Amino acid sequence: MIYQPREDSFLLARQVEKYAKNKKVLDIGTGTSIQAETALKAGAKEVIASDIDINVIKHLKNKGIKFIQSDLFSNIIGNFDLIIFNPPYLPKDKSEDLESRKTTTGGKKGDEILLRFLEQVSSHLERDGVVLLIISSLTPKEKIFSLLKKLSFKYNVLNSKSFFFETLEVWEIKK
Ligand SMILES: C[S@@+](CC[C@H](N)C(=O)[O-])C[C@H]1O[C@@H](n2cnc3c(N)ncnc32)[C@H](O)[C@@H]1O
Repeated sequence: MIYQPREDSFLLARQVEKYAKNKKVLDIGTGTSIQAETALKAGAKEVIASDIDINVIKHLKNKGIKFIQSDLFSNIIGNFDLIIFNPPYLPKDKSEDLESRKTTTGGKKGDEILLRFLEQVSSHLERDGVVLLIISSLTPKEKIFSLLKKLSFKYNVLNSKSFFFETLEVWEIKK
């Protein structure tokens, strides 16, 4: 199942538009490639899109976006000025079907994929590079905050939107 753009996608894309110009961009978990395409339209100098799901590749044909199938950074080579990730960030919900869960569920508690991402991102980020990501009020933050501190990352909330069941935030993360 390919995740169709929703509120989180649109909220993030609005920031990608502002950050992508002249940047070498990596869009992790690209899905329909909404963030990668937004970066390209905003004047990024190079855009690479990746996803763990090979099925997303069909969206990228003829769009000038290179696709790499990768579990987070496992197949990614090189450094980037801007790394974008709208991750699966929700705690596991047994009532959700398995295919859908692959795009929404960040692990048992919801923070597991994000924590793995943060552990790996430094080695692919230029010195003055920026990470843009989505995080939900339903994602546990304690381990994320302590990992950011350990890695000497600062974070800044750029934008947020509240719904009846959760609040979504776009974070800028940099050294
Ligand atoms: C919430 S969707 C976001 C899709 C799109 N970027 C957007 O903004 O609409 C999360 C995406 O991350 C991908 N994904 C899940 N686990 C991943 C992993 N370990 N490595 C790379 N991509 C992953 C899913 O296949 C899915 O396409």
